[in-house]
Amino acid sequence: MDITEIKKSALTEIEKAKSAEELEKIRIFYLGRQDGKLTAVLRSLKDLPIGKRREIGPKAQALKRELENFLEEKLKKFQVPSSKLQVDLTAPGKRFRRGHLHPLTLVDREIRRIFLSMNFSVVEGPEVETEYYNFDALNIPPNHPAREAWDTFWIKRNPNLRIHPNDPNKKLRGIRINSDFSDRLLLRTHTSPVQIRYMEKHTPPFQIIAPGRCFRYEATDISHETNFYQVEGLMVGKNITLSNFKFVIEEFLKRFFSGQKIEFRYRSGYFPFVEPGVEVDIKFKGKWLEVIPAGMVHPRVFEYAHYNPHDWQGFAFGAGLNRLAMIKYNIPDIRLFNSGDLRFIHQF
Ligand code: DAH
Repeated sequence: MDITEIKKSALTEIEKAKSAEELEKIRIFYLGRQDGKLTAVLRSLKDLPIGKRREIGPKAQALKRELENFLEEKLKKFQVPSSKLQVDLTAPGKRFRRGHLHPLTLVDREIRRIFLSMNFSVVEGPEVETEYYNFDALNIPPNHPAREAWDTFWIKRNPNLRIHPNDPNKKLRGIRINSDFSDRLLLRTHTSPVQIRYMEKHTPPFQIIAPGRCFRYEATDISHETNFYQVEGLMVGKNITLSNFKFVIEEFLKRFFSGQKIEFRYRSGYFPFVEPGVEVDIKFKGKWLEVIPAGMVHPRVFEYAHYNPHDWQGFAFGAGLNRLAMIKYNIPDIRLFNSGDLRFIHQF
C-alpha cells in the first residue's frame, strides 16, 4: 500500500467505525508498532534514495499525525462521560479498612494510664546509653559474670570525635570525661539506666515509670527478640518497703488484666541492682507465669546516684512490655510484633 491508498482507506474506515474496539483494530492495522501499514512505510524510508526520502518522509509523518488525531477525536464519541455512568445503589459496599494501633502501643498506653492514676510520673531515657549508666552505676562492674545476662550491641565511637572537657552539653549527653567511668556507647539492654539518670537530677520522695525500647544481641526465637520494650518502675522515699511494692504491683496487674481472676506468687530472684530481688509470678488461666522481676534498690545503686543509702529506700521493677502484651492478647510468638504483617496488626 502506498501512502495515498493508506490515507484513503484509513480515513474511511475510521469514519465508519462503530465502537472503541473497532477503532483500536484500525489503529493497529495502520499504526501498529509491529506491522502497521503506515509504520512499514515509515520504516522503509531509510532505504530510499535521498530525493524520494525527502518527498515521502514529511507526507508520511503528517499522515501519521492526522490519523492519530482523527482516531482520538472519534474515540471520544464512544466514551461515556462519567456524569452519565449508572450507579448501582443496591451493590454491596466495599469494606473500608481502618488503621490499627500496634498491640505494644495499646499496652504502653494502658500501663501509663494505670500508673499515672497511682500518682506515678512517666519519664524517658536515651536508647543509646553509656556503659556507665547501663552497667556500672547499676552495680554491674566490668568482668562481673552478671553482665553475661545482657548480651550487648556496642557502638563504635567515631575516633575523630573528641569531646572537649568544657563542652557545655557534656552532661546532657551523659558523657563523663576524665573520670574513672566508662563512656563506651551501647544500645541499652534494659530500661534500668533511667533509674540512675532520674535519681541524679531529683530528690525523693518520688515514684516513676520509664517505658522504652531495649536491645539485646542474641538469637531470636518465640520468646526472644533483639528489639523489645520494657517498663521500669522506681519508688523512693524515707520508708518505702516491699509491702508498698506488693500493693502497687498487684493493683497494676489486676487492672491490666481486668476481668481475669489472677493469683500472685513471690519468689526470690537475683539482680545486682536490688537486694533482696524478687520475681513476681501470676497464675493466669490456670498457669503460673513469671511476669515481673523486681526488688529493693541496692544501697550501692543509691551511692552511685549520690544518695545517702541511710536516708532513702525504695523498690524497683522492670517488666517486659512484649511479654505483658503476649499474655494479655494471647500472642504465641514475640517475633510477630516486629513482623510488619498486617494480618497480625488488624486483630487489635
Ligand atoms: N533490668 C532487668 C532486666 O532487664 C529487669 C529488672 C529486674 C529491673 C529487677 C528492675 C529490677 O528494676 O528491680 O533484665
